[in-house]
Amino acid sequence: MKRWTNLALLVLLGTAFTTGWVAFFYGTAPSRWSLVIHAGSGFAIVALTPWKSVIARNGIRRRRKGWVDSLVFTVLVVVSVLAGLLHSSGLLVQAGPISAMEIHVGAALVAIPFAVWHVIARRIPLRGTDLSRRSLLRGGVLLGGAGLAYAASEGVVRVINLAGAQRRFTGSYAVGSLQPGQLPVTQWMFDNVAAIDAAGWRLVIAAGGSVRQWALDDLMKFDDRVRATLDCTGGFYSEQDWSGVWLNRLLPETQGALSLLVRSSTGYTRRFPIEEAARLLLATRVGGMALDAGHGFPVRLVAPNRRGFWWVKWVTDIRAEQLPSWWQVPFPTQ
Ligand code: HEM
Ligand code: HEM
Repeated sequence: MKRWTNLALLVLLGTAFTTGWVAFFYGTAPSRWSLVIHAGSGFAIVALTPWKSVIARNGIRRRRKGWVDSLVFTVLVVVSVLAGLLHSSGLLVQAGPISAMEIHVGAALVAIPFAVWHVIARRIPLRGTDLSRRSLLRGGVLLGGAGLAYAASEGVVRVINLAGAQRRFTGSYAVGSLQPGQLPVTQWMFDNVAAIDAAGWRLVIAAGGSVRQWALDDLMKFDDRVRATLDCTGGFYSEQDWSGVWLNRLLPETQGALSLLVRSSTGYTRRFPIEEAARLLLATRVGGMALDAGHGFPVRLVAPNRRGFWWVKWVTDIRAEQLPSWWQVPFPTQ
């Protein structure tokens, strides 16, 4: 049971980590499905606690080199799981400036080096019997139990009507919908709000060998509109009326181009399939009012059905390129 528990934890941690990021990547149905698997693997990790605590107690008693690192790892996993449950149930979604979701993902990220070290330092050689019928049966029982526990937790959240019952399929909570003044200001990891002087600012559009510069006054003349939901990976969503110009209207010639690289003045970039140009709005206003610096003044991208980190703010240039749209790190690193 000891080997099996550790191997099961390895598979479950890998699954939880991967499905968490898949859920972040999409703003559509795959996000929900990967979150079901995500929650199931999270509950299965918790279900293994009685067995793992025996292993851990024995290990700690032996004071093997690095046991303190194993304890730090344990604390990080516990914090991550608790924050995940606080977020999903809605018991504590926001603590001052930081959200439970940020703590959830932050603790999981900090845990990575500890997890790698733990698995290498306490490695267990794989055996043929690890895939025996008995092992697989145990796995089935564990996953079945975890699935039931997850379904029961979702049921309880609804029956006693916790805030979690109101969350979107991505797990996010509504904040300030159709009230642009209440739209929170958030940045991806290390990105910072840029203060831009509109007078000197120009938007550079490079496509099909030509380069055109747009001043803000000229962009303000467009009034294309879309109602879209900004779903932030920090754990909130907000529906707003955006206006500006559909990107395809600014692109004279994109023959042969496969993707659009959208860059902000901070160096933050995202690449989109060229076919999406007709569905990407370069917004100059939200709720009829000019954007403020926190929301991307002078112009920001509105990318319906994509999570917030695709909605590039403070856009300075857009290039049609012959690179495929997947030619980028899946998540920005700044
Ligand atoms: C939820 C994830 C995990 C937590 C919180 C955790 C925690 C711990 C702790 C606190 C110890 C005792 C201190 C020590 O010996 O360093 C330990 C021991 C150990 N862990 Fe883990 N661990 C986890 C996952 C894993 C995984 C994925 C593996 C292997 C694939 C593993 C293999 C071991 C082994 C072999 C020991 C040594 C037991 C002994 O010496 O008696 N653990 N773990
Ligand atoms: C150590 C790794 C992780 C574990 C064990 C874990 C476990 C959990 C658990 C137990 C929940 C609560 C599930 C529920 O009650 O619905 C949860 C929620 C969530 N986790 Fe993780 N998680 C991990 C890492 C991540 C990462 C790296 C991400 C994103 C990049 C992530 C994204 C989410 C999201 C979006 C939710 C909310 C789901 C919802 O409210 O429906 N998780 N996680």
